[in-house]
Amino acid sequence: MTELDELAELAKRRGFFFQSNEAYGGTAGFYTYGPEGAALKRNLEDTWRDIFVREEGHMELEAPTVMPEAVFEASGHLDGFDDMIIECAECGATHRADHLVEDEIEGIEDAEAYDPEEVGQLIADHEIECPSCGAPLADEPVEEFNLMFGTNIGPGSSSPGYLRPETAQGIFVEFPRLKEYARNQLPFGVAQIGRAYRNEISPRRALVRVREFTQAELEHFIDPEHDEPPLERVADVEVPLYSAEAQQADDGEMETYTIREAVDKGVIASDWVAYYLGRSMEFYERIGIDMERFRYRQHLPGELAHYAADCWDAETELGGNWIEVTGFAYRSDYDLKKHGEYSEEDFTLFRQYDEKKTVERATVDPDMSYLGPEFGGKAGDIADALEALAGRDRSAFEGEEVTVDVDGESYTVPVEKTGFTVEEQTESGEHITPHVVEPSFGVGRLVYSVLIHSHGSDVVDDEERSFLELPADMAPTTVAVFPLMTKDGLDDRAEAVARQLRAEGFEVAYDDTGNIGRRYRRQDEVGTPYCVTVDYETQEDDTVTVRERDSTDQERVALDELPAALRRLVAGESLSDL
Ligand code: GAP
Repeated sequence: MTELDELAELAKRRGFFFQSNEAYGGTAGFYTYGPEGAALKRNLEDTWRDIFVREEGHMELEAPTVMPEAVFEASGHLDGFDDMIIECAECGATHRADHLVEDEIEGIEDAEAYDPEEVGQLIADHEIECPSCGAPLADEPVEEFNLMFGTNIGPGSSSPGYLRPETAQGIFVEFPRLKEYARNQLPFGVAQIGRAYRNEISPRRALVRVREFTQAELEHFIDPEHDEPPLERVADVEVPLYSAEAQQADDGEMETYTIREAVDKGVIASDWVAYYLGRSMEFYERIGIDMERFRYRQHLPGELAHYAADCWDAETELGGNWIEVTGFAYRSDYDLKKHGEYSEEDFTLFRQYDEKKTVERATVDPDMSYLGPEFGGKAGDIADALEALAGRDRSAFEGEEVTVDVDGESYTVPVEKTGFTVEEQTESGEHITPHVVEPSFGVGRLVYSVLIHSHGSDVVDDEERSFLELPADMAPTTVAVFPLMTKDGLDDRAEAVARQLRAEGFEVAYDDTGNIGRRYRRQDEVGTPYCVTVDYETQEDDTVTVRERDSTDQERVALDELPAALRRLVAGESLSDL
């Protein structure tokens, strides 16, 4: 069995995750987190919140998952959020055409960047067959398929909506209100952990490509001319970088830089993206990613999303493949500008100058008693066009006449009828559209990576054991309590210990079935870092045995010191230090 198969089996058997709706045959691309998985996911999200909301001082919100069509017209998802699809005429199976090309043709890794005709040609040239039934696909068209799930808001079809394909839009559309909560001061960040939906053509690799998943996204709104990240906080953090340049070179490789070196050498172009790449290293380490199986990879030019000016992905190695777990994008002012254009709201922010400025402003005050009779119904639009032209190019008003375009037609107006003047004005600031830096984490892919990276096996007391070496504060259960026997009051005592530890805030499991060795194995397999056994000695001296998952060492600890001892262990001390 491969490590992915072993993990899939463990995940299902022990309740981490499994395909949803199995009673009805299962639904491709949908997974349910069982009790262990839901707890692990919650701990991972709490760690994210701790770093990216609490420590960074950002806000967090919770927006609806269904949004009206107008949002996605503005964001560009309605037009551009497509993947390439090919349908087999023989069996009707649909496939992601770019993935077929990547899987079947050696040396092609980035087929998403090609256009559908090129991908169709490659399928024909390489005689690629349908993976489901083996029929040739050469004659089938490759088409664009929009990944959004559509719905209707309310009865009838007059109000189309979509399940959001990224949580980010729920933040962007609320910017006019959010800027007020931030007292109209940049920079500020808004985070959200929530569900996103994509009608993936071929869901695959368990939690890696699913149709409903959780994202943890931060939208950091900045003034690109004035705001700088606190780079000194992460300057010495080492990051493994696989730049676009290295990917395109014959012998290019991943290299480790400090953030300071990467910025100074221009490997990472944006200081803000560099800041979050550095900051996120702590997060990946805390949740239990194996940093030997981790890298940051820069997007190749053709790979950039429609909104991104620069983008790096965090990738983890799973079963021999590098999988994107986080996207770090410099989204510039793309989203706020679009929502400003498509909606009635103001998506700008007023930037106060340090000192008031006196500026020359060109304005017009058109003579409507001339424009009206001369241009009829077009007079108002012509006046607006003159106003816009004066702001843009005052030299156009230097001659006797000025010409403007309205709806593709040219109109010439004598300058004396435009009321053109240049005035001095004192201004205290200007309206700007903030830029956005976005770290976007896929929670399911991170849960999956943590499980695969922490899964191992060894032999203890001549018995094979399977374990999850999860960090103590990530494990679904922190401590399991066992009575040695279910008699002589040991079980009552053990239950009381479990109750006490729960009251102290620990996640506690209680298990009194099977022999102690088997109970340890069960807890090792779900990653419980500590087990406590109540035995006959407990009855005599009020001590219990504490056993550590990773070393399998055991120590006796006084019951009245147990909560404090466990806290020290969770904080990183080892059993021998107690
Ligand atoms: N707001 C930016 C955005 O959504 P993305 O790179 O499309 O960017 C961010 O998605 C993260 O969401 C990815 O790095 C990945 O971890 C996760 N993700 C995207 N599509 C996914 C899918 N179909 N299944 C599971 N996770 C997915």
